Amino acid sequence: MKLADTKATLSFSSGSPSVELPVYSGTVGPQVIDIRKLYAQTGMFTYDPGFLSTAACQSSITYIDGDKGELLYRGYPIEQLATQCDFLDTCYLLLYGELPNAEQKQKFDRNVTIHTMVNEQMQFFLRGFRRDAHPMAVMTGLVGALSAFYHDSTDINNPEHREISAIRLIAKMPTLVAMAYKYSAGQPYIYPKNSLSYTGNFMRMMFGTPCEEYEPNDVLVRAMDRIFILHADHEQNASTSTVRLCGSSGTNPFAAIAAGVACLWGPAHGGANEAALNMLHEIQKNGGVDKIGEFIKQVKDKNSGIKLMGFGHRVYKNYDPRAKLMQETCKEVLGELGLENDPLFKLAMALEKIALEDEYFVSRKLYPNVDFYSGIVQRAIGIPVSLFTAIFALARTVGWIAQLNEMISDPEYKIGRPRQLYDGATRRDIKPIAQR
Ligand code: SDX
Repeated sequence: MKLADTKATLSFSSGSPSVELPVYSGTVGPQVIDIRKLYAQTGMFTYDPGFLSTAACQSSITYIDGDKGELLYRGYPIEQLATQCDFLDTCYLLLYGELPNAEQKQKFDRNVTIHTMVNEQMQFFLRGFRRDAHPMAVMTGLVGALSAFYHDSTDINNPEHREISAIRLIAKMPTLVAMAYKYSAGQPYIYPKNSLSYTGNFMRMMFGTPCEEYEPNDVLVRAMDRIFILHADHEQNASTSTVRLCGSSGTNPFAAIAAGVACLWGPAHGGANEAALNMLHEIQKNGGVDKIGEFIKQVKDKNSGIKLMGFGHRVYKNYDPRAKLMQETCKEVLGELGLENDPLFKLAMALEKIALEDEYFVSRKLYPNVDFYSGIVQRAIGIPVSLFTAIFALARTVGWIAQLNEMISDPEYKIGRPRQLYDGATRRDIKPIAQR
């Protein structure tokens, strides 16, 4: 970052002396006011619950322009990455800052491939869960448990440890997600097959059985790979900020990523794709397209507590570019499967059209986000609804790692420790119980 040619002067109507604060510019996007010395100079904190106006870090990984609906990974538009690259290219880009050349790609892909197996002991963690446990409960446990197996790569301040734990996490997430699925289905685990691509291998571990050879469908593999690319990183979202804060204590990478998995589970965040599909099922059950108007009325009634899941975003105040790509992927997959007339997809398209013409949504700049169509694609591919957020976690793992590593390799980083505006009881003494 570079010092901007302007400063910020904070003055107080109380007559306290004003303070001058440096303003910094990035390469693109909003400038920042550096308040690191504010408390020392004024004895005051800033107040920003939900961090609506707070830059928690400096980063060169992902840039979002919410007004333009633009998403760049290391400067490359998501539209180009989703159509010209595969997920492992995107992982390489997010981790190292550049797309791989042919030799780098071959080496990186091979390195990931040979780390896809998990320790056989991992199976025994699964046995502790009920078969109907939510996959995100299982994933939160399994990812954290990885730290018990790799004592040779848990020192987050050691660059070699960071490198091998990144490869291990990217490589093993598909295996763990597929194991969580097989466990819930009561089917045997399918071991990774090194001759397949990253995503082809995932599809085989998910849908293959020991009873016959499983041949991945190239169109579905490509669609799944694109879903991974679209979910790989997204600036300082809630789960990424969780990983950064957790990792800032110096804990091992597996524990920090497990914290990200836990945060992503929430319906306001990664859990929205599952919630969006359940919402579409509910509207379908209550009468489908004819009932959309009634549903929208409920959404607009604040007392209903009902939100249009898969709509709205803290940063995008325009169409989420990932939603557009997801809609196109939807059409490709449904076409490949002969499901062009899938009622849920038609319902989703009708719901989007009505919402985008409704003043309530237009005035609040509520557009479809990445979660609105991803559920329909995943359901068509055969992914059970309860596994949608685990797929999101699989894809976002590389973004979490890249952001964590960027923080740890910044010599200036400190443990994150926000303060508060305290409005509780002032000092008081305990009275004997008879006097309370
Ligand atoms: C992801 O941060 C990221 O980058 C996340 C993510 C990523 O890749 O990491 O993009 C992934 O989490 C996408 C978002 C998925 N969540 C959902 O689809 C759940 C539904 N969306 C809402 O919960 C909401 O839009 C949020 C949480 C996404 C954003 O909430 P904000 O920014 O805090 O906005 P807000 O709640 O202050 O809403 C502003 C207004 C409010 O109405 P008013 O108080 O102005 O009258 O818009 C309304 C809200 O009630 N509103 C909605 C709505 N979202 C916001 N009303 C109906 N349906 C919605 N979906």
